[in-house]
Amino acid sequence: PTPVIIDTDPGQDDAVAILLALGASDRLDLACITTVAGNVPVALTTANALRICDLAGRPDVPVHAGAEVPLLFPLETAEFVSGPDGLAGADLPPPSRGPAEGHAVEALIARLRAAPEPVTLCPLGPLTNLALAIRVAPDILPKIERIVLMGGALGLGNMTPAAEFNLYVDPHAAAIVFECGRPIVMFGLGATLQAIATHEQIAGFAALGNASGRAIHGMLTRPRPGGLGTAGHPMHDPCVVAFLLWPELFSGKDCFVEIETGPGSLRGRSTIDWNGRLKRPANALVIDKVEAHELFERMTKVIATLP
Ligand code: BDR
Ligand code: CA
Repeated sequence: PTPVIIDTDPGQDDAVAILLALGASDRLDLACITTVAGNVPVALTTANALRICDLAGRPDVPVHAGAEVPLLFPLETAEFVSGPDGLAGADLPPPSRGPAEGHAVEALIARLRAAPEPVTLCPLGPLTNLALAIRVAPDILPKIERIVLMGGALGLGNMTPAAEFNLYVDPHAAAIVFECGRPIVMFGLGATLQAIATHEQIAGFAALGNASGRAIHGMLTRPRPGGLGTAGHPMHDPCVVAFLLWPELFSGKDCFVEIETGPGSLRGRSTIDWNGRLKRPANALVIDKVEAHELFERMTKVIATLP
């Protein structure tokens, strides 16, 4: 199986991404989960990652708590999307255990250094932990196989007209990651807003009859008054894990991507040079097409294998 680390701020769609990875453990070897502040503060994203592991029957997966705040800006959270505890609709009990010893940044560094082969990193929230790890220990870079991340936007943002939430929250971290020189696969809003389940597919999760399917159904049907202007509940973060499993469901283009770090109205914007006007070397494969129907069909089959 492919060695993988998920860095995350659950978040309903993060939760589904983690479940997908745990359900596909024959193909993905999830070494650990690292958490970051984003949708909600890090104490809650950590508890939520632990709750999701419990749900999947995997209390053995280490969960390391990470950055409490972005590199420079104060933390802004998104309870208006994810609910007060970050997992509205999932209806899960409190975690059965606490986080693993060691800060997420230390865990990333230690695990990458010790890894016998390069590891695929899957950041699903603000990029604070990864940026810190790269700055503290640049020797880990060759141990990063690639970074498949959710962040940015091909068109309009969701947090502001210019910026998607993850990059908006910590644009300085995002700039460090996009400049790090390792291969990046970018799932921005232009791609992930295509990943919206139909009513039938949402009902299909409940019909599986397992606790994981019921939790996903609850998260996908909860009211979302703050909704960021999108219909349905886009499964942004699961696209990242799905790409590792079924790359044939996605397509995109190698592009140069630059992150705006300024504090003004462009903060966190991902400028994507789709037509190569800037003549700069590409630093990311930017995904723009998702076969959503097939994606949800396949995801449902994987979730069916979980408790
Ligand atoms: C991203 O922001 C978070 O709310 C979601 O989990 C996703 O990672 C979408 O903009
Ligand atoms: Ca997320």
